[in-house]
Amino acid sequence: MARYRIAWLPGDGIGQDVMEAARIVLDAIRLDADYVPGDIGWDFWCREGDALPPRTVALLEGVHAAMFGAITSKPARAAEAELVPGLRGTGLVYRSPIVRMRQMFDLYVCLRPCKAYPGNPLNFGDAIDLVIFRENTEDLYAGVEFGPVPAELAATLARLSKPFAPFQGLAPDAYAISCKVNTRKGSERIVRAAFEFAKRNGRRKVTVVHKANVVRATDGLFLEEAKRVAAEYPGIAMDDANVDAICMWLLKNPRSYDVLVAPNLYGDIISDLAAQMVGGLGFGCSGNIGEKLAVFEPSHGSAPKYAGQYKVNPLATILAAKMMLEWLGEQGMAERLERAVATVIRDGKARTYDMGGSSTTLEVAQAVAAAL
Ligand code: NAI
Ligand code: MG
Repeated sequence: MARYRIAWLPGDGIGQDVMEAARIVLDAIRLDADYVPGDIGWDFWCREGDALPPRTVALLEGVHAAMFGAITSKPARAAEAELVPGLRGTGLVYRSPIVRMRQMFDLYVCLRPCKAYPGNPLNFGDAIDLVIFRENTEDLYAGVEFGPVPAELAATLARLSKPFAPFQGLAPDAYAISCKVNTRKGSERIVRAAFEFAKRNGRRKVTVVHKANVVRATDGLFLEEAKRVAAEYPGIAMDDANVDAICMWLLKNPRSYDVLVAPNLYGDIISDLAAQMVGGLGFGCSGNIGEKLAVFEPSHGSAPKYAGQYKVNPLATILAAKMMLEWLGEQGMAERLERAVATVIRDGKARTYDMGGSSTTLEVAQAVAAAL
């Protein structure tokens, strides 16, 4: 029996292409693992009414980690229309399987390293090396939403939110409410994860991203918890910044930042900004990490127009595999893999279209495997 059991979830579109590429590299590095394929994505929604079938959830319950490619998502009505006729009109509602995995398995850390590898023509600047910790389960993604707004809630809010209640007297469908829910526990543990990472990896500073001057209750709580945790790590500097300001500062002084930690939505936004600074969709990788399970993925989607053409950049997924090796404790392999990726980028011989080359997805993977 192999040492590790890994759920292998290519999903839709280019998810298949990039996962095939990642497998070339993992096989070359000889990770002692069984890769167990799992069903996820659009086909399963259309045929079975569930993009994350119970058998895949059961698979995830018994693995060390999972690698996930990408899925196609569509708005509720469009999704309903693509169900097989027998399932239409039965009240099924499409929900993104990646968001469901995060909540179901309490994958509360979304870890997104953004490093400018030397020689990447897509780098915004040299020596950018940011690591983003995004809270992954609560905040505006908690799913506590109302539209139309129930009369009971409207009455309570109107009573409690004096003097300013812009919705007072409006019809229930004339407005909508999405609740931003941040708990002390959720805030504390993501900030702690960021500081622990900083400590283990010799990082000098953690920047807490928020909007506490305006969004006082929730972001105020987040910042308060952050300061409490920071006090336990005297060797690591802490500063904080408003989410709007950090978007400017990151572009102006990218090398002044190190580790950043943020509530869910702000984390989502700044991690796309940071990913673009180091090469964009072909480089953005992500780990969804809980206490017992972690799911690693490229940040990009299924890019249907490139599906099956082996044209897209596999490096985001290969870097996600590197993150998986770290999570498994295979530090040596992770370092070797990262060096191989850096070599391929610097040599510039194997490059997909986004980097100005004409190599295929699998040729880039083979180049990484050869550089191991
Ligand atoms: P996308 O990320 O799939 O692709 C947008 C464009 O970025 C592509 O057309 C392509 O030009 C480029 N691109 C993406 N990945 C690339 C790569 N590895 N190398 C080179 N170029 C790359 O985003 P889009 O088109 O908005 O969404 C397509 C589908 O993917 C939608 O159904 C969306 O809901 C879903 N999606 C899924 C995600 C996930 O599985 N985590 C994340 C984002 C979108
Ligand atoms: Mg995003």
